[in-house]
Amino acid sequence: MKILLIGATGNLGLRLVAALLTHGHIVIAYVRSPRKLELLLPSNVYSQIIVVEGDATNTALIKGTILENDCDAVVNTAGVAAMAPWNKSDLPEIFSAVLKAVQQAGSERKEPLRVWFLAGLGVLHFPGTNTMLSNYVPIFLEHRQNIRLLRALPPHSVDWSLLCPSTMTPENLEISVPTKTSGKLTACATTPPMWMDSWLKYIPFFGKVILAAMNASRYDTTLEQNAEFIASDLEDRDSRWIGVPVGIIDAKK
Ligand SMILES: NC(=O)c1ccc[n+]([C@@H]2O[C@H](COP(=O)([O-])OP(=O)(O)OC[C@H]3O[C@@H](n4cnc5c(N)ncnc54)[C@H](OP(=O)(O)O)[C@@H]3O)[C@@H](O)[C@H]2O)c1
Repeated sequence: MKILLIGATGNLGLRLVAALLTHGHIVIAYVRSPRKLELLLPSNVYSQIIVVEGDATNTALIKGTILENDCDAVVNTAGVAAMAPWNKSDLPEIFSAVLKAVQQAGSERKEPLRVWFLAGLGVLHFPGTNTMLSNYVPIFLEHRQNIRLLRALPPHSVDWSLLCPSTMTPENLEISVPTKTSGKLTACATTPPMWMDSWLKYIPFFGKVILAAMNASRYDTTLEQNAEFIASDLEDRDSRWIGVPVGIIDAKK
């Protein structure tokens, strides 16, 4: 597939460049600073991609880049959610701008575009309920307004998926193609996979908070595993992750 990768200079973005190339995709990296990307990637990797300079809040430029390069899919890793509920980041503005560009480009092409966005563990539901985990542990709340935008889209206007990792750490500091990862992820739609249940959830007021906090660190994964997950899913035109938030866990856990 021909993929527009927005935020290629970031921790996940750099690993995605390598993973997408490893899976045979054509990569168009959309970044604020091509020079920064050139310094972060080995020259033999940088030479394999097309680089476009632009801001992730620029809907018109993103849409134009998708259409001019005839992209089949978009991955957005630009913007980082604020952790504390009282802080604000530019992620909501970026998310909304990219989503509009993808929707408009799909509408002009008369075929919805495939897109992967990033959120966090907190937008997944506490298993067995319709309540988001971030109701119990209220951090990274900006992801909630982003998922509301996805759910408000007209049917079949965007083939979106929303990856909801907990903390992601690097396996390797060097970026190389082909990629190496320590192992695969197990995924589940809407709730975290392999949730560790406990009677604690029946304790009034605090039980689910304690259980959610106890589970959170089990969902730590690596940047390389998440990049591999997205790159491999984009080989499948009928992905089962279209239209859902996706929880993931290291398959070895
Ligand atoms: N890392 C984690 O543990 C973790 C866990 C759960 C979810 N997430 C989510 O995963 C996503 C990626 O995380 P990450 O660790 O890769 O973040 P990161 O390393 O901080 O990368 C953020 C990227 O966003 C780009 N960016 C920011 N504002 C931009 C703008 N206006 N226009 C264009 N690019 C812009 C940055 O570009 P510059 O280089 O130009 O600054 C950078 O490439 C984030 O949305 C984050 O909330 C991360």
